[in-house]
Amino acid sequence: MCGIVGYLGKQKAFPILLEGLKRLEYRGYDSSGISLLDEELHTFKKKGKVSELEKFEDALNSEAQLGIGHTRWATHGKPDDLNAHPHHSGNNRLALVHNGIIENYSTLKEYLVSQGHEFKSETDTEVLVHLIEEIQETQNLDLETAIRFALKKVVGAFAIAVIDKEQPDIIVGARKSSPLVVGVGEDEFFIASDATPIIKYTNKIIYLDDDEIVTIQRGKEVQIKSLENEMVDYTIEKVDLKLEEIEKSGYDHFMLKEIFQQDESIYEAMRGRINAAEGWVTVGGMQDHYNRIANAERFIIVACGTSWHAGMIAEYIFEELARIPVEVEYASEFRYRNPIIGPKDVVIALSQSGETADTLSALELAKEKGALIYGIVNNVGSSIARFTDCGSYIHAGPEIGVASTKAFTSQLVVLTLMALDLAHKRGTITKSHFQKLISEFELIPQKVKSVLSQAENIKSIASEIKSASNALYLGRGYNFPIALEGALKLKEISYIHAEGYPAAEMKHGPIALIDMYMPVIVIATNKNAYEKIFSNVQEVKARKGIVIAIVSEGDTEIKKIADFTIEIPHTEDVFSPLLSSIPLQLLAYYIAVMRGCNVDQPRNLAKSVTVE
Ligand code: F6R
Repeated sequence: MCGIVGYLGKQKAFPILLEGLKRLEYRGYDSSGISLLDEELHTFKKKGKVSELEKFEDALNSEAQLGIGHTRWATHGKPDDLNAHPHHSGNNRLALVHNGIIENYSTLKEYLVSQGHEFKSETDTEVLVHLIEEIQETQNLDLETAIRFALKKVVGAFAIAVIDKEQPDIIVGARKSSPLVVGVGEDEFFIASDATPIIKYTNKIIYLDDDEIVTIQRGKEVQIKSLENEMVDYTIEKVDLKLEEIEKSGYDHFMLKEIFQQDESIYEAMRGRINAAEGWVTVGGMQDHYNRIANAERFIIVACGTSWHAGMIAEYIFEELARIPVEVEYASEFRYRNPIIGPKDVVIALSQSGETADTLSALELAKEKGALIYGIVNNVGSSIARFTDCGSYIHAGPEIGVASTKAFTSQLVVLTLMALDLAHKRGTITKSHFQKLISEFELIPQKVKSVLSQAENIKSIASEIKSASNALYLGRGYNFPIALEGALKLKEISYIHAEGYPAAEMKHGPIALIDMYMPVIVIATNKNAYEKIFSNVQEVKARKGIVIAIVSEGDTEIKKIADFTIEIPHTEDVFSPLLSSIPLQLLAYYIAVMRGCNVDQPRNLAKSVTVE
């Protein structure tokens, strides 16, 4: 949800900001802009992709060594040149970029208009820069103090960076509920929504906390204060992120690269947490609060979107193996319905970005009510990771394609390891069953490779159904949430309308939709309910639906009646989502590419949803 970047140093700022914005484009990509400061303030902004900014000759030729930039995902005001950030103050002294939402912007705007301010855009952000200007002018304050005063009047979420023509050697940033990091290089500083625009120059990163305000100034040390004007101690962390990890490395799209990385990312999520030869599983993040977790009355999983689907699979896994009752909640619903939670509950947050506003708010509520908060997060140092009492990173590496793929399977790995660890120690499965499961689990990365080797088959199936207007996904048990996830992947990147259903539910409504034009993707790898799902496939065929079946290797029955099949290696049912999700990711990917869609940056979406 919007990316911001700032540079202050001895190099030309524009190319660094431009490249930084391209790295942040996954956060929003409907318009972008850059302000450069030398003796004057120059702002260049444009509707469309960040690359549009390359058309500004003056920006390309600018020698300015300080600037801020923004790539936008519209909240208030349509995506156009005027609503693009940075926004200027009325006196053109300040430029500001903002990620988040100013909830009380209309009250503030009314007041500012009464004071004679005129607005050029429809954004909430422009109100903030005018408010800072108003405070600065009426009280004759420096930039940092004026921002501090202004932010006290603001209700909402923000990460901002501001520059001031009268103080040409500083950038001031601040955060509340939206991420902001500072990079500390040799004679240069960076400020950004995450570390990706910075790591080419330095791996020394400071993560800002909520209600902190940072000033970076040429020749001075970074200064961080609270909104109450107290100095804040900070640590400079060394971030272990390599440039290759955030580049396409020869793949046509990030999404394809990320799909193909899953044998490794799944292995990384397991590494050091399982050893079948020695017969153990241990999830380090649980150890400090082990008794509370193992004796929880209930696990409540809160998440959004794809992470919510991972949570639904976890419900099946935890209940089956560890016999702990689980509820899975959309974070946005949970937050606003006065849920019953108490100290005996463990609330597990699933979030690849670690920045999802709804999930964060749900956790705040759960913490207030005394639950233990466990985070399962990909982005190290993200807001959710820092808010939780304990948790585990999934170590999937940067996921840049907006549609989540490898983070999803890595979430599943960590959740499964937790369930195995708890099941073993709580004695809810026998030793031999535990040993059998972990031996099989360790084989999953190898089996993922074998699924990936079917890409060409999946591509040819994609070409058969690429022109469909609708699609239905069916699965049972562990594969029901995979049906939901397959449908989500297809709709978000190819814009084909798709629905996921428990296979048996088809008879209770969706069957009415089936005709010779309807592709029905059936995940039929279940050992447990094979006959039942076989009957569901027959029901679809009887209505002339086009069946694409994902089956286990050697399947003969469903293969006979399905129009297309994708065979995946046999595994235990509990691990099958790790394999069956991958053909669905590839199917969505190839269909979207064949339809000419931008798979890495689908329309209207953004990678981190930092607004509620
Ligand atoms: C879809 C997708 C989204 C996210 C959702 C939550 O492919 O990626 O549905 O899963 O926005 O995001 P995180 O996991 O970052 O909390």
